[in-house]
Amino acid sequence: MVGKFIGVGVGPGDPELITIKAAKTLKIVDIIAVPKTHADAPSMALNLVKYILKERLKPAEILELIFPMSKDEVEVKKLWAENALLIAEKVESGKTVAFITVGDPMFYSTFIYLFQTLREKHPKVKVEIIPGVTSLTACAAKAQIPIAEKEEVLVVIPSDLDLKLIEETVGHADTLVFMKCAHRFKAIIPILQKIGYSENATVAVVRRCGMPGEAVAVGRLADVQRWVLPEDYFSMAIVKREKAPINRG
Ligand SMILES: C[S@@+](CC[C@H](N)C(=O)[O-])C[C@H]1O[C@@H](n2cnc3c(N)ncnc32)[C@H](O)[C@@H]1O
Repeated sequence: MVGKFIGVGVGPGDPELITIKAAKTLKIVDIIAVPKTHADAPSMALNLVKYILKERLKPAEILELIFPMSKDEVEVKKLWAENALLIAEKVESGKTVAFITVGDPMFYSTFIYLFQTLREKHPKVKVEIIPGVTSLTACAAKAQIPIAEKEEVLVVIPSDLDLKLIEETVGHADTLVFMKCAHRFKAIIPILQKIGYSENATVAVVRRCGMPGEAVAVGRLADVQRWVLPEDYFSMAIVKREKAPINRG
């Protein structure tokens, strides 16, 4: 194989939701790049593909890449550049490097930073992207809530977004998906009520979808304040309006 950098989506948590293409690729690449927030952090993505790596004829080199959760843009950009350089050097020496990421690589993934940095600083590096099943669709399937049909508008919100911005954004949507820190979701309920989500709007909170410790709660907006929502990074809330917003045809 000629050197290449491959972003591989490994699905949302159920090892059976890894695509055939992802599994085939992980069995033949030279290097598996694993994103981590710090050196001792466990990697969910690596955990998900362990059974595939066991089937390899020759073990892959595992390359841990640290992407700290820091708000210091300068420090973070420096680390992306270092990680991108590392990848570029490996690819230029003829190696195939698969960067594994939970869900899909192009949907709120660390892969995006690396991809953009490579594009900017090492444009000659050949890149391929293998999509994965996103947590968005996996959680909707688990909760059995259609995300969007006919002319419905779907809005995806990272829950750490400013509350004012959330209020401005969600007015025209039929379905809302809150990613990252769904435990903060209760603070958002008054905003939803203010902009016209009725107490009968359907709500699902899905935690660790397809993973050990999975929990699914489905009910009405009016029920949510009574729910216990433990702090868990791997959680998502879906809200579906009872009726279309009045200002839409
Ligand atoms: C950085 S984003 C990664 C999204 C991922 N690239 C995807 O395509 O689903 C992390 C967020 O995805 C959601 N998430 C990922 N896996 C999940 C799972 N198995 N169950 C529930 N939510 C999940 C959570 O909201 C989590 O905070």
